[in-house]
Amino acid sequence: PLTARVHNHDSLEIGGCDVTTLVKQFGSPLYILDEETLRSACQQYRDAFKQYYKGESQVLYASKAWNCLAVCAIAASEGLGIDVVSGGELYTALQAGVSPEKIYLHGNNKSREELILAIESGVTIVADNWYELRTLVEIAQPGQSIRIMLRLTPGIECHTHEYIRTGHLDSKFGFDPNDLDEVFTFVSQQSTLDCVGVHAHIGSQIFERQPHQDLAAVMVQWLRDAGKYGLNITELNVGGGLGIKYTESDDPPSIEEWVKAICEVVQEACAVENLPLPKLLSEPGRSLIATACVTAYTVGSSKVIPEIRTYVAIDGGMSDNPRPITYQSVYRAVVANKMSSPVTQTVTIAGKHCESGDILIKNALLPKTEPGDILVVMGTGAYNYSMASNYNRLPRPAAVVVANGEANLILQRETYQDLIRQDSLPERLKI
Ligand code: LLP
Repeated sequence: PLTARVHNHDSLEIGGCDVTTLVKQFGSPLYILDEETLRSACQQYRDAFKQYYKGESQVLYASKAWNCLAVCAIAASEGLGIDVVSGGELYTALQAGVSPEKIYLHGNNKSREELILAIESGVTIVADNWYELRTLVEIAQPGQSIRIMLRLTPGIECHTHEYIRTGHLDSKFGFDPNDLDEVFTFVSQQSTLDCVGVHAHIGSQIFERQPHQDLAAVMVQWLRDAGKYGLNITELNVGGGLGIKYTESDDPPSIEEWVKAICEVVQEACAVENLPLPKLLSEPGRSLIATACVTAYTVGSSKVIPEIRTYVAIDGGMSDNPRPITYQSVYRAVVANKMSSPVTQTVTIAGKHCESGDILIKNALLPKTEPGDILVVMGTGAYNYSMASNYNRLPRPAAVVVANGEANLILQRETYQDLIRQDSLPERLKI
């Protein structure tokens, strides 16, 4: 899906830009976002809902995957809404010019300040728990109507990493479905709360269709039940979670297949229950943006441990991509300036952090590398920049967006001055 191709026989080009030249121009490491791939994924989601769903639909970009002005603006310009999970993400989406009617605020422990910002901005709040509902009622002005959805835990298991599973009953997110009666009763009695829908999210990097189909069926039952409490619930949000192909062995359904599977279940279940079709929302993150970005690094030192392993070190690591050390995630890499060289070695790509576990890829198949080569790790658009840190006081890399041979900076590289910007040295500690 990435619009990467090899030109001049030997070097990697993305969005019409030569990767090695980009690194010379913008520095290393560098996140390179391919606009066409991102737009195409947005369109695939949008078009699939149009094709397979007879009611209204809205795709939200789960911006936790990569929240910044440029990415929010691209997603919004493709007609997507934005899912945000904090005041900071909300602020960024608003600053990017996203219309508040298309922003949904998530979170299992939103602060009062975050809730007030959301209410004042007119975005929809996805209420997660009793504490939040009571806080909302408390801070609502008389006569106000706060647009909310209810997040419920569906009790659906799926096969993915334990840390990114959210739909099972002991998840920290959402109301227990056993409390449905109480929650619906409470919400229906609050004149300041305008409950428009139900939401659930079962996990991330999921390769099967069945869990989301089961989810959709359960959610239609919630819709039906809501009617008994006089609630006019018209929106149903099935969350995100479609997996992507990080390696050859990963086999997720296509965006179209995933959307179709969900639409069919919602339509059938609504027909059985004799319910009007709700507005159907979904909020993919990873499957929209992961394949649209690569990270380019510069190769430096290496260490050969005879018969055991060869380490090739790059100038970034767990601070710009914490996924391998956090979830044992697997990535693929190529050498941008040696695209036609034969693959001759199996190496371990190590980061530059003071931590043995700072390994980006175990057993990468690469041509012979030398210092100065540009190593490109594919599929780094989701949960890389957004989870990046300054561990070991590494400045966060820059990011550029590329399209039609043009590259524009979307995130500046941090400087050493940036690193101490929030530091303060009390007078009495000065040396
Ligand atoms: N909606 C909600 C409520 C979510 O919690 C998430 C992801 C999404 C949508 C988007 O899910 P996606 O389509 O991206 O799978 N940092 C982890 C992933 C954490 C996902 C958290 N929630 C990783 O790097 O794999």
